[in-house]
Amino acid sequence: MSFQHPSDAPSISSLGSLTTSNGNPVHNNQTSTTAGPTGPVLIQDFHLIDKLAHFDRERIPERVVHAKGAGAHGVFEVTHDISDLTVAKFLSEVGKKTPVFVRFSTVGGEMGSADTARDPRGFAVKFYTEEGNWDMVGNNTPVFFIRDPLKFPDFIHTQKRNPRTNLGDADMFWDFLSLVPESIHQVTVLMSDRGIPDGYRHMNGYSGHTLALVDKEGNYKYVKWHFKTDQGIKCLHAKEAAPLAGTDPDYATRDLFNNIEKGNFPSWSVYVQIVEPEQAKKLDFDILDITKVLPHKEFPLIPVGKMTLNRNPENYFAETEQSAFSPSNMVPGIAPTADRMLQGRLFSYPDTHRYRLGPNFAQIPINAPLSGVNNHQRGVFGDIGTFDYTLSDVDFKQANGLFSLFTEDEKNRLASNIADGLSGAQKFIQDRQLAVFKRVNPDYAARVAAELQKRA
Ligand code: HEM
Repeated sequence: MSFQHPSDAPSISSLGSLTTSNGNPVHNNQTSTTAGPTGPVLIQDFHLIDKLAHFDRERIPERVVHAKGAGAHGVFEVTHDISDLTVAKFLSEVGKKTPVFVRFSTVGGEMGSADTARDPRGFAVKFYTEEGNWDMVGNNTPVFFIRDPLKFPDFIHTQKRNPRTNLGDADMFWDFLSLVPESIHQVTVLMSDRGIPDGYRHMNGYSGHTLALVDKEGNYKYVKWHFKTDQGIKCLHAKEAAPLAGTDPDYATRDLFNNIEKGNFPSWSVYVQIVEPEQAKKLDFDILDITKVLPHKEFPLIPVGKMTLNRNPENYFAETEQSAFSPSNMVPGIAPTADRMLQGRLFSYPDTHRYRLGPNFAQIPINAPLSGVNNHQRGVFGDIGTFDYTLSDVDFKQANGLFSLFTEDEKNRLASNIADGLSGAQKFIQDRQLAVFKRVNPDYAARVAAELQKRA
């Protein structure tokens, strides 16, 4: 199957002349339309209003984590058959190719922060398969700081600015870590020589979580995914990274873009580690605990395929910034496990996407599955309609209660008031309305009928 990605559609620039967002030609992009040479600008200048209005809204919230990142398009090719392990169609045969979009990122910093921070790196891959998208939303480290999603917002806040000083704060960071000792495995990786990758091409990617692969009998096995860099691992020392943060804060973004642009395509060899559910019970740790790795000796890496990045985005905002990865995007044959962190993430990502990009985030071309979407979300088929109450005696009961409270005089004035208006209506309408009064109380109808008679 060969896919044409929606982002391959002709861009405005390839259409020739400048247009409004509505596609109309723009005759003058320098001077607003005015009432005479010295008069005010006119509201009929659609291009001006449209341009200002769009500008006023052109910022969307940055990602609450992983705000600084770089993306690239590429392809994943199956090199080894693992179809006995999973029914996922994109893994069904050697040589099969699937388009991917990858976004690498730092975690804690803001959108304009330095690429060379000592921080884990995000490693998010969107596979545009024929069964919809599979997102492998991992990091460059195989473990994580915490193992319960309840701690995630607190943990991330320790790396953001102190709410009072608006500065980074060593107390916040180390206070948290010293109270959450299960973080020590990841802290040791982060503070070691491996803590600052030298750009995005020279680092591995890991699912971190234990996911599941499901075969055609419906049996599952545990799996961890590994993306090993074919460029070799390279890291920066603290002494190199710190000055780079000042001289070239976009160091990793530049390195990735320039290498792809000159045809030096980076690639990763993709492996899985497989664990039978029975084997998992014998481990001396919980296989669903993301602070732990699986020993390679016992669970060797099984080769699966190769991922190559070969095309830069045409538009950073449209593609990289608006990309929305989620661990909940899974294809048949790849399934979640009871990993608590993963379960928290299954909720958190689509939720943040609805906020960050709006409820139609999945229709943005970079996020839309190439295999198409068939659902009832927009027209909302079926249950929308005019569902009336079924009329019953209950609907007349309270009106009768009120009518019965009235004195003789009040009842007569009521009937007279009604007849003043109703007498102007045609006979068949008068009869229909009299039937309504009758359902309330026959006396009510009789009084109105008598008043109508007087006006006939
Ligand atoms: C981004 C939540 C743990 C990897 C994000 C975002 C949120 C989030 C809200 C922003 C997404 C967006 O705006 O598009 C959480 C929660 C976690 C968690 C609640 C734990 C309960 C993890 C773990 C990993 C990870 C354990 C790696 C194994 C990533 C990556 C991104 C990301 C790579 C950036 C995706 C991109 O490039 O768009 N996370 N996260 N997160 N997270 Fe997590």
